[in-house]
Amino acid sequence: MSTHLDRAEAKLTVDPAFEIGEVNPRLFGSFVEHLGRCVYTGVHEPDHPAARADGLRQDVLDLVRELGVTLIRYPGGNFVSGYRWEDGVGPVAERPRRLDPAWCSIETNEFGLHEFMRFTEVAGVEPMMALNLGTRGPQEARELLEYCNHPGGTAWSELRRSHGVDKPHGIRLWCLGNELDGPWQMGHKTADEYGRVAAEAARVMRMTDPDVRLVACGSSNSSMPTFAAWEGTVLEHTYEHVDYISLHAYYEEIDGDVDSFLAVAEDMEHFIDSVVATCDHVRAKLRGKKRIELSFDEWNVWYRRLRDRATEPDWEIGPRLLEDNYTVTDAVVVGSLLVTLLRHCDRVTAACLAQLVNVIAPIMTEPGGLAWRQTSFYPFSDAARHGRGRVLRIEPHSTRHQTADYGEVNLLHSVAVQEDEDTITLFAVNRDTDRPLDLVADVRATGAVRVLEHRVLADADRHARNTAQQPDRVQPRQHTGATIDSGVLAAELPPLSWNVLRVTAAS
Ligand code: AHR
Repeated sequence: MSTHLDRAEAKLTVDPAFEIGEVNPRLFGSFVEHLGRCVYTGVHEPDHPAARADGLRQDVLDLVRELGVTLIRYPGGNFVSGYRWEDGVGPVAERPRRLDPAWCSIETNEFGLHEFMRFTEVAGVEPMMALNLGTRGPQEARELLEYCNHPGGTAWSELRRSHGVDKPHGIRLWCLGNELDGPWQMGHKTADEYGRVAAEAARVMRMTDPDVRLVACGSSNSSMPTFAAWEGTVLEHTYEHVDYISLHAYYEEIDGDVDSFLAVAEDMEHFIDSVVATCDHVRAKLRGKKRIELSFDEWNVWYRRLRDRATEPDWEIGPRLLEDNYTVTDAVVVGSLLVTLLRHCDRVTAACLAQLVNVIAPIMTEPGGLAWRQTSFYPFSDAARHGRGRVLRIEPHSTRHQTADYGEVNLLHSVAVQEDEDTITLFAVNRDTDRPLDLVADVRATGAVRVLEHRVLADADRHARNTAQQPDRVQPRQHTGATIDSGVLAAELPPLSWNVLRVTAAS
């Protein structure tokens, strides 16, 4: 498509006859790790004026509900690979304090399994429980499952009941460890070592509760030297015993190269395609019947280079770690990553924005003070609310530009979702930092006659952020001018913007 000087343009056709797949609600998951202030003074702060009797912050719970999160992974992360789940159950006063070597912190264990389960209940989300397959093994994993899900009459299930939880939790989703390919991980393993342990853990877990859905660890990111070989080997050991393989990816703007940063979804696309290819290769090799699903259970923007993990441990409780303060640019990238997840909803059936509160998070809090929305909150809540239903296949033709890291890319990055009979939502990112993009979409096949809304997140200052002092500095706004005429939708997408364009066939 030709490049104009002052405006970019894109054309696409939306036709409900062409479907990628149904969105699994688990795509809008998040992550609570015992890391920094995610738990302590994040979700849990008994002394806070907004605390409930159980110590959970009501102001945070309200924001979690507004965010639209469906699933929460817990308790880590790197933390889980040294965790003893037994430390976090039973009378709080008797729980031990431990060193957490993963984040050089002190873990009080004031918040544990049942406090987390209470949080998921009140927040209305599904739990996704991660197991320690780093320093522990199949035995402890199975015992935790029995403690959580077995009705009663055995030592572990009766122990749960003696802890005041009569009914089993019925937790379905379990992660078989975390990032065990990473040398930073406690209990780091080779692919063969991990594959064997994961297969054994999966077998004994299914023998205990056949209804569990299990996630094997994939690579910590696609730049790992063992990437793809790791997935291949692990799946050869576990194929028959697991349902998902995990993917993790974090992105950041490096040296002011904003064009590459706005195109990082290209990397995510490639990562997903490569893992799908590897899963299907193993399936063919093993004459497997089922297809392995993808659990993108850690993804976000994270300024790792600014990572503030103490090099000299100071062993604090709930220290300020990884408290990235996101800009408008970061939020647009988060939107673009959501577009990619939706475009792969046929294989990516679970995903977790890492993390939920304070730690590289859409929600921030001050101890004893305010809770507020970061810029990245908005694209996530938009997608979680309107990215439900059927994802339609669209092939946009867009003005392109050159990026250092991904070559030539489309300036428009978008996906169409049919929410119901009448309503289509187009999520769209304009990657051009200077020019508006004129979007023309042929929506005749959808019967759309009216624009319901055009919500935009953009700002004259691409570095604008929300802070405790200015919590609402950046907010989405309704954009005017989008029209439908004879089945053609026309809209202007502002420079560097996240757009939610909703159209309806109802008059
Ligand atoms: O989300 C922060 C950390 O990133 C997690 O603990 C780990 O799994 C990943 O490396």
